[in-house]
Amino acid sequence: MKIAPSMLACDFTRMGEEVRRITRAGADWVHLDVMDGGFVPNISFGPAVIAALRKETDLPFDVHLMIQQPLFYIPHFAKAGADLITFHVESESPVRETLQAIHKAGCRAGLVLKPGTPAQAVKEYLPDCDLVLIMTVEPGFGGQAFMADMMPKVRAIKSWAPQMTVEVDGGINKETIRLCAESGADVAVAGTSVFRAPDAGKMMEELKAAAQL
Ligand code: DX5
Ligand code: ZN
Repeated sequence: MKIAPSMLACDFTRMGEEVRRITRAGADWVHLDVMDGGFVPNISFGPAVIAALRKETDLPFDVHLMIQQPLFYIPHFAKAGADLITFHVESESPVRETLQAIHKAGCRAGLVLKPGTPAQAVKEYLPDCDLVLIMTVEPGFGGQAFMADMMPKVRAIKSWAPQMTVEVDGGINKETIRLCAESGADVAVAGTSVFRAPDAGKMMEELKAAAQL
């Protein structure tokens, strides 16, 4: 299991140090949660902050767009240094066109499902996706409780597209990561559990060990 710490849970007064800290601690990817106050009831940060962080680490940037109009902003996030851009199938942008725009910008493309959206909603787009992100909390805030009833969606995606990278996001800790691994998830986003741990490196090792089947 790869671990992608979510910068939403870091100390915002020292983001550069925080991204270097999780890099040294052995993170696989850096997860960056972008919220526009419209698609979700919260506002986080945008391309300028991501571009600034890009200078601090060589780890892949996994940019999770929780915004109403992802298509319009794709070139901005690609230029800021995103490696992977994921957007919600529930957003207002045309899905196929947005996946194409991400690829055209030189990034890997992924679709995200909110808890209330069935796996079937992304089935027709799987041939054009590099990754599917299954939300295991309602998007908008860190520190929420994991929804175990999302695991059948992980299994469904893996059954339709066994080679697909499936990522899970929300409420990941040493207990819940095991359920995700058993369901076939490949990447786990972890905000609170990694950034609030006394030792982020030890926590990531423990998360990976718990995910070992
Ligand atoms: C929620 C975000 C998550 C969140 C995860 O909208 O997409 O990435 O920061 O945080 P934890 O691990 O605290 O649930
Ligand atoms: Zn996220």
